[in-house]
Amino acid sequence: MKALIIYHSQQHGNTGKMAEAVAEGFGEGATLWNTNEKRFDVTKVPEYDCIAVGTPDYFSYIAGTLKTFMDDIYIAERKGVKGISGKPVGLFLSHGGGGRAKEPFEKLFKRLGDVVGETVESSRSPSARVLDSCRELGKKLAAEVQ
Ligand SMILES: Cc1cc2nc3c(=O)[nH]c(=O)nc-3n(C[C@H](O)[C@H](O)[C@H](O)COP(=O)(O)O)c2cc1C
Repeated sequence: MKALIIYHSQQHGNTGKMAEAVAEGFGEGATLWNTNEKRFDVTKVPEYDCIAVGTPDYFSYIAGTLKTFMDDIYIAERKGVKGISGKPVGLFLSHGGGGRAKEPFEKLFKRLGDVVGETVESSRSPSARVLDSCRELGKKLAAEVQ
């Protein structure tokens, strides 16, 4: 079983730490992809059984590279690429104390598929508790695709 853990992490690596914990919870078959480093080719999404998406709060919205990911998906699907949407989706969010990106984040990414569990939220550097919740999210995704 394969999971795509796609996230944007840039400022402190906070979202990246959460992504690593989600991948750890999922176990073998998790691929980590930081969209801050490289754009993801969305025609490869059908190769995965589930997706976890993590974003920092940028001006009460998601990071631009993840908006691009969703824009690319919309365009690819309109061009006839099948098997992108409809998978289990897990969400995690890192913010600096505000966290108002949660609503637009959930609204946009529920287009991708069935959202599993609650969005894991973290303020600044993720605590041990937050990292446990990320591992739990990874485990929930793994259970969905068994
Ligand atoms: C351009 C920019 C805009 C930000 N806007 C917000 C915001 O509106 N609300 C908030 O709570 N944090 C905001 N932050 C803080 C980040 O969400 C926070 O530091 C996050 O943990 C960074 O994740 P990263 O270390 O994975 O890049 C902003 C940070 C940057 C760089």
